[in-house]
Amino acid sequence: MDRIVVLTGAGLSAESGLGTFRDAEGLWAQHRIEDVATPEGFARNPALVHEFYNARRAQAAAAQPNAAHRALARLAGHAPVTLITQNVDGLHEKAGAEAIHMHGALSRALCAACGHGWEAPATMAPDDPCPACAARATRPDVIWFGEMPYHMDLIADRLAECTVFAAIGTSGQVYPAAGFVQEAAARGAHTVELNLESTDVSGAFDAHHTGPASRIVPQWVDRLLAG
Ligand code: APR
Repeated sequence: MDRIVVLTGAGLSAESGLGTFRDAEGLWAQHRIEDVATPEGFARNPALVHEFYNARRAQAAAAQPNAAHRALARLAGHAPVTLITQNVDGLHEKAGAEAIHMHGALSRALCAACGHGWEAPATMAPDDPCPACAARATRPDVIWFGEMPYHMDLIADRLAECTVFAAIGTSGQVYPAAGFVQEAAARGAHTVELNLESTDVSGAFDAHHTGPASRIVPQWVDRLLAG
């Protein structure tokens, strides 16, 4: 039986009404990465950063998984699948699947002073005290540019043993996630890209399915489960 690793990105949640990052009207067209997605930006203006993530947390809380999220949950129920997500929206879990959150989660808060983590309130503010050390250095538990993603050892193990690697709804512009296809291919895995359009790393994949995730992902899952 195949051991499947699936990497997902913002394109998976686009049809659930959550903006992607690099599309024409994406988040990075409306906000400066330096201001809202770096430790330096947080040090300069934590209120601006919280405002950005409070809005995203509210959108994610109101969003529902789409047919692509549901199809991946179905796949995970019938095959050995490791779901690795760059997304912080929690829609995989809402669809009933477990995912490795390499970029953190909007639903979590983190103390920048002691590293303690806890369930985030709907709205966070710079002077929210840490429940463990009382420091007023609370930040969203989301990985920013220049920071090491979570669970990289576990991810390396799963990539080393997978026989099928799929990347869904990701532009392949951000490392280390964009390099996972090479790691899997180097171990002989069959690699497939599912995306609305070709990406910077399309050339690294054996196969491609192009179109909206809510259509191409259920089709791909049906074929996989049909064997
Ligand atoms: N179905 C399938 N793919 C889609 C859809 C859709 N409905 N809509 C958009 N896409 C594709 C786009 O064509 C693009 O290739 O999804 C991709 C989204 O790319 P990005 O916006 O760059 O998002 P992602 O790859 O997840 O970003 C990676 O960068 O900003 C950081 O930490 C952030 O996790 C994020 C990381």
